[in-house]
Amino acid sequence: MRIGGKTWHRDLPWIVAMVLLAVVASGFYLAEYLAAGRLPGGSSRTGFVCGVIAGGIVVFELLLWPRRRVRSWRLGSAQAWLRAHVWLGLLALPLALMHARLLFIGGWLNWALTALFLAVIVSGIWGLAVQQWIPGWMLEQVPAETIYEQIDHVAAQHCREAERLVRGMCVADPAEHGGDDAAADPDPDDHAVITGLRSMTGIQGKVLQVVQIHALIPGTAAVRRMFFAEVKPYLLGGRRSGSSLASRATSVRLFAALRDSSPTEAAVVIDHLERTCDIRRQFDLQARLHGWLHGWLLVHVPLSVALGVLLAVHVPVALWYW
Ligand code: HEM
Repeated sequence: MRIGGKTWHRDLPWIVAMVLLAVVASGFYLAEYLAAGRLPGGSSRTGFVCGVIAGGIVVFELLLWPRRRVRSWRLGSAQAWLRAHVWLGLLALPLALMHARLLFIGGWLNWALTALFLAVIVSGIWGLAVQQWIPGWMLEQVPAETIYEQIDHVAAQHCREAERLVRGMCVADPAEHGGDDAAADPDPDDHAVITGLRSMTGIQGKVLQVVQIHALIPGTAAVRRMFFAEVKPYLLGGRRSGSSLASRATSVRLFAALRDSSPTEAAVVIDHLERTCDIRRQFDLQARLHGWLHGWLLVHVPLSVALGVLLAVHVPVALWYW
């Protein structure tokens, strides 16, 4: 969920209402503290009311999960639910703290519940924060962005295109035995369709370029060698391959050295290999950012469920001993 920008007017009423409620509750809490001379806890009037509201909010927060998954539950828009989730969740923090005597509490169940609650809130704030900056960053840094689940498939396709170009235009290394030559080289009159990216006035788009494969270019064995030794494993495995091409600086240096030692006609192949490695590097970054964007839910959701379970234990136990 993005906060601010065009949707600012939707967040503002929530922010004002939540701050007001938190201030009013704190006022009651302070008054009760001054009257009693000690910190009110869950069994005080204000502390109890704060606890009931915070508990109700936790139940509401948990409803986000079925809201997303149960089709017949489509009450209100997803954005409205998320907005309520975020702002009510934040309001629950001061309320729960007042209910928990500002953390001056005893008993392992109370501590476990409070610790879980704080962990859920902190992970929620963290998730909200990453949702603020990662999508914009992704748009800027990953113009080649593709569907996350298809990264390996698209990278393999880019690798096949590159291999076709290399096989058609670069001479085989006489020292090679079989290995990369297991597949037949393409017809010299063939052509390769290669994918590239073009960025114009901030709008990025994929372009398909057709490169005519005329004939093998003499003196290009090194290009072919580098393709099979470095480029292909990197295109197929990305960062996991452990290739030094994962580093942009190293890639620039390696391709510059290759360009210097190769005939000028080979530039079209070398440029394409370098561009394809750049795209693979963007895919790696996309996968990392995807992990940041969604990984926190692996903490937030299970801890929320544990929080719900402990809350269900806490309520009857606390009422029993009251
Ligand atoms: C007691 C408090 C909370 C509970 C029990 C709770 C629980 C949950 C649950 C169960 C989900 C999963 C929904 C799904 O996978 O469909 C969720 C998602 C989310 N929570 Fe919370 N949450 C709490 C507080 C917060 C707070 C304080 C924030 C932020 C300040 C927050 C931010 C989020 C966000 C941004 C998502 C949705 C991520 C997405 O876009 O898919 N949560 N929460």
